[in-house]
Amino acid sequence: MRVAIIGYGNLGRAIAKALAKKHEIIATKRELNAKSKLKRIEVTTNNAYAVKNSECVILTVKPKDLMLVLDEIKDYVSNKLVISFVAFVKLHEIKSILKQAKVVRAMGNVGAEIGKSFTAYYVEYVDEETDKEIFNLLSLTGEVHKAKSEEELDLMTIFSGSAPAFIAKLIDAFIYAGLKCGLNAELSKKAALSVFNSTSELLRKESIDGLIKRITTPAGTTIEGLVTMEKHSVEFGIMDSIVKAVEKISKFKKG
Ligand SMILES: NC(=O)c1ccc[n+]([C@@H]2O[C@H](COP(=O)([O-])OP(=O)(O)OC[C@H]3O[C@@H](n4cnc5c(N)ncnc54)[C@H](OP(=O)(O)O)[C@@H]3O)[C@@H](O)[C@H]2O)c1
Repeated sequence: MRVAIIGYGNLGRAIAKALAKKHEIIATKRELNAKSKLKRIEVTTNNAYAVKNSECVILTVKPKDLMLVLDEIKDYVSNKLVISFVAFVKLHEIKSILKQAKVVRAMGNVGAEIGKSFTAYYVEYVDEETDKEIFNLLSLTGEVHKAKSEEELDLMTIFSGSAPAFIAKLIDAFIYAGLKCGLNAELSKKAALSVFNSTSELLRKESIDGLIKRITTPAGTTIEGLVTMEKHSVEFGIMDSIVKAVEKISKFKKG
């Protein structure tokens, strides 16, 4: 299948790389600096050309640029799947312009680049076959979740889209702690990445409490670290940061 990706920026490039494993991509941006060297990815500034020549369209422009794009492509999307990764813009707003398209909203993250995004989608009234088509296409970007409501999808802006930045900060804290204790930055980064990876894998199979208890010796080193984390309200600090990011969603939606 040929897929148009309108908005070949940070997220668009990550999604293009993922989808190019199986599909031909025509990606667009406003200014063309250089030709794409990536196999199966053509880059152009012509949105109408990209959409006319594709069976499916993915929107990855910033919210402020979306209306202009929708206006440019609205005559060429009849019966086509249009998947919008644009934050904050509601399904009905897009549908009101792309009346003939099968419109879906999705949210993921730059992990798509390595097939490891967490990509959620929200769609209303599609047949089973189309739903499967959406699921299969998005599966190329990573793990896929079908959101039960548009509100749940909006929350994924933070819990998937922004989350890599939060996790990167946690890893950075590990690296600096390593440096403070005499490990070189390369080794503390290597250890932190490995531990974040294995912890994620283990937590797919066991509870958080179970894992913590399993590695915490009475009066040992781990409990010393855990108590200090409590003293600094580390968990609350992280929770509060994420909640503040979520609160910002409604400010964007209002404005
Ligand atoms: N970045 C993330 O990790 C992430 C995660 C989840 C969701 N999102 C969502 O994805 C969207 C894009 O974010 P981003 O960070 O990838 O932004 P970005 O890096 O600024 O990319 C936006 C791209 O859209 C292109 N563009 C703008 N107007 C256009 C037009 N009229 N026709 C064709 N292309 C146009 C820009 O072209 P030029 O390069 O030529 O200016 C740019 O390449 C946003 O809605 C954001 O909420 C992003």
